[in-house]
Amino acid sequence: MNEPVPAATIGLAGARASLLTEAQLAHYEASYRKDYQAWAEVLGENIERIRRGSFSLHWLKTDGGNWGKRAKPSSRGLTYTDINRVRGYGDIPEHADWFNFAPRGSIREPYRARMPVVDDYTVTARDELWADNVITLYEEAKARQWNATKDIAWDELEPLPEDLEKATCQLCTFLTEVEFVAGDFPAKWLYRTPQDFLEVKSFLATQLMDEARHQEVFRKRAIAGGGLLHASPGFEWALKAILDAPSHTMGTFLLNLLGEGLVLSVFRSGEMIAKTQVDKEIFRRCLQDEARHVSYGVLELKNYLATHPERERAVEELHRFADIGEQVILSAFTEAALVEPVAVLLGGSLKQIDKGMEGLGHMWRMFIGEYLQRCTAAGFDRAPRCTIPLDLPWGVAA
Ligand SMILES: [Fe+2]
Ligand SMILES: [Fe+2]
Repeated sequence: MNEPVPAATIGLAGARASLLTEAQLAHYEASYRKDYQAWAEVLGENIERIRRGSFSLHWLKTDGGNWGKRAKPSSRGLTYTDINRVRGYGDIPEHADWFNFAPRGSIREPYRARMPVVDDYTVTARDELWADNVITLYEEAKARQWNATKDIAWDELEPLPEDLEKATCQLCTFLTEVEFVAGDFPAKWLYRTPQDFLEVKSFLATQLMDEARHQEVFRKRAIAGGGLLHASPGFEWALKAILDAPSHTMGTFLLNLLGEGLVLSVFRSGEMIAKTQVDKEIFRRCLQDEARHVSYGVLELKNYLATHPERERAVEELHRFADIGEQVILSAFTEAALVEPVAVLLGGSLKQIDKGMEGLGHMWRMFIGEYLQRCTAAGFDRAPRCTIPLDLPWGVAA
């Protein structure tokens, strides 16, 4: 018989979808049998009452709750901010201690001892993920969703000369690669965040949807224009570093503030890089979405540092993380598979790649300058320690 296997490794059992082994199934059964007392008691009481033919109606009692205080919509409709104004609902705890799905503000205290604990909720400190703009950004994200199938005039996509088409498709391949991690990172932390931080969870869900759409639109653009081109190891290490970040704030710094900040700068140059109206429209729409993610990253870091009880140590810790993070991000943003196509697009043709590199040199200064400004806005003075060179790191004369 097989050794017992932790449930968490079930997905690794085989390369194909398969049945569980006896040991895996037994492991799951045992984990629920262990808590049998807790949930079987509830089940028993309910069955017994149903047999007696009586109702509980305990849910009509309002003691310990916030019943009767009605939320009023504001000019925008009924936002989280509006309902958080109602006493009893808007207190976002500094430390979450509800690790199940009971809604904040509901009558839940009497049931605490009978509720399960979800072990995966590990982000228990509000200031590991809170940002003062998170509710506004959530509203904006919902209002600005778009559809990569219908909102882009795909039938107007003009064929480009081969060098520009290949450059565009390579850039789209890079962006597709990046958008995957941009979705997986918030997904990883969304899943670890307790329900009491529901406003942040809601915002992260929009970020996930945004990134799914970005991955979709760049994939479609490449395949509609010629095809996906080369994957790139330099990007892959940066993307892995983002996913492996030891805390939510560190990963958010690396993804939202630095990585997406650089992507935002690329999108902002869309007028120069995009060679068709369709491409301009794609960049413009992605720019709006990306600006929200960057904005969350800046204010999340700001709140983290401003509220940290050991601010100096937190800043130093972040500097040490950034020392590595900047270098890994640099390994992505110096990749030939990114830099060269952008230079071809800026120059206007493969022949003009040198001219394009000059343009890229100017853009690079702007990119890094903007990154350092974002750090400063977050209260993180990175300029004296920044390990990314201000000038073109690949040594082409500007
Ligand atoms: Fe994105
Ligand atoms: Fe993003």
